[in-house]
Amino acid sequence: MKAEGVGFGKVILFNEHFVVYGIPAIVSAIGKHTTAKIEPYVNPEVKLEDNRGATPKYKVDKLDQQKESLNLILKAMKLDPIKKGMKIVLGGDLYAASGIGASAASCVAIARALAQHHDLTLTDEQINAIAFEGEKGYHGTPSGIDNTAATYGGLIWFEKGNPDVIERIPIRNPIEIVMGNTGKVTNTVAAVAGVKERKEKHPARYAEVFDRAENVAYLAKRALMEHNLDDIGKFMNEDHKLLQQIEVSSRELDFLVDVARDNGAIGAKLTGGGLGGNMIALTPGKALQEQVATAIEKEGFQVLKTVIGAVR
Ligand code: MEV
Repeated sequence: MKAEGVGFGKVILFNEHFVVYGIPAIVSAIGKHTTAKIEPYVNPEVKLEDNRGATPKYKVDKLDQQKESLNLILKAMKLDPIKKGMKIVLGGDLYAASGIGASAASCVAIARALAQHHDLTLTDEQINAIAFEGEKGYHGTPSGIDNTAATYGGLIWFEKGNPDVIERIPIRNPIEIVMGNTGKVTNTVAAVAGVKERKEKHPARYAEVFDRAENVAYLAKRALMEHNLDDIGKFMNEDHKLLQQIEVSSRELDFLVDVARDNGAIGAKLTGGGLGGNMIALTPGKALQEQVATAIEKEGFQVLKTVIGAVR
């Protein structure tokens, strides 16, 4: 029997980038996931076969990072591929693109599959810690928010710290969203470094924006718990403004955010590292979801129709 592991895709609803500096953020797993299957391999090596659907160039651009990530995962699990050859096959219905947690989902899936393949019983906490090491291959210094969503699923309040604060936010029902893909593969390390540089250059201005982001997180958490859709949307719009102010949006992202809002989305913002990648629109109900998705597709962009609050 092949060992198999699963990791969720994710969408950051509030405070990507701010989260790197300890500001609370809210992330949700989406109803799409990556699978990793492992089988013995004749050669004493780890062979990776990546069968995920992906944005053009995504896999090529990320190949070196993927190799580095796999080595970090093996190291964190103290596994020696030379002793036991393996073939890891990635698949699942999560389309690999920037801003959707593709790297974290694959790290979690691989860690889970490796554990099964080696008869190791690991807790979610241990899987999350291993995936965090794997994420370093992609992000350099990740906050840990992506692997947390990919491991636990559901809707999560996340604060980076020692230890991290990871709390489940209860919501009444999963809510429909549309994610619009700019088609641009982006480099999260560069995006995070850019924020750091500008923050150091303009400390007072950035401190003000960061304070507002912190405030938005608390207000948004309450709105989510009360299932107050209008407020959730309003705070998403506010968060997008703050992300524009720290210069991680892009022309394409702003355009898709406008298209979504003009077509009835209750709120819309970029999601993930920014500068390209994906945006998210809050579109409760199948009809509104369809309307916004169609409008984005008409502009020639790819969409993903899914929900926030998906659980395992
Ligand atoms: C990337 O999905 C989210 C960022 O905040 C980076 C991180 O938290 O590691 C941009």
